[in-house]
Amino acid sequence: MPNVYFDFFDIADDTRRQRIFEGDIFLSSALSSVTSLCDFAKSMIEEAFFPADPQEAQFHLAVEEFINIIGPLKSRFTNHGRTKELVRNVISEFGGDLDRTYFDVPRLRVVTHGGYLTAGVGYAYRPHRDIWYASPTSQVNWWTPVYRLEAERALSLYPNYWGRRVQNSSREFDYDEWCRIGRQQAASQIESDTRRHPLAEEEISTDGELRPVCDAGAMISFSSAQLHATAANTSGLTRFSLDFRTLHLDDLESGTGAHNVDSAATGTTLGDFISVSNFSALPTELIRSASLVNK
Ligand SMILES: [Fe+2]
Repeated sequence: MPNVYFDFFDIADDTRRQRIFEGDIFLSSALSSVTSLCDFAKSMIEEAFFPADPQEAQFHLAVEEFINIIGPLKSRFTNHGRTKELVRNVISEFGGDLDRTYFDVPRLRVVTHGGYLTAGVGYAYRPHRDIWYASPTSQVNWWTPVYRLEAERALSLYPNYWGRRVQNSSREFDYDEWCRIGRQQAASQIESDTRRHPLAEEEISTDGELRPVCDAGAMISFSSAQLHATAANTSGLTRFSLDFRTLHLDDLESGTGAHNVDSAATGTTLGDFISVSNFSALPTELIRSASLVNK
């Protein structure tokens, strides 16, 4: 059964990754670098919704108007040069090796209250492992709320399913096809999401579901093989969160990572990762060899 570590800031990054690959979850109070990243996101969010309160704007806007705000907002945040620098500071403050660690640009997630928008740019993720989306098994997920969470607008983790096979549709997921078709369609999905997300094909039990409820800037770190989902938002406010992923070259080169018990996804997200130190892509040769052994 996975363990939850709280505020283990002095742990070596190698040890933390090893435990994460064994299913453990790390919760960390807000560090200054994460607060800076969240504050940067918050300033963009508040500017985009001005003069409305972003957490309440959904109650005053037609869903199409809401999408027209968050679609460009999400892209602007993800692609902003300052965002990458702030992520670098986060990885550094958590003790990551800047020359050996790679990350993908962070995503801003928007989860509305009460099913106002659950598709496309506001997609509410059903239980999944990131490896079902062709993420490598050596990936670590970093997730933080931009505003304080409530249990009714949280991230759900299902550690009971660690190492336990779940019947799922990842065999139909191909990352190259997803990039070609799926992402472009996100902004046009309003009422239902027709993109082929990999999904569980069996009932997921909520016994043992874990919802860390924390303040803005707190960090939840877990493996790409950890089953997780967007908790249905019934809080009365829109949820805004950030997440990004990291990889360590040592793990890629040695084929170290979580055990893949049930993903049959094809393709790889490795091409999305950039160096923390200079933002260059992973060497192509490494992507090719790692995608063979690191599945
Ligand atoms: Fe995920």
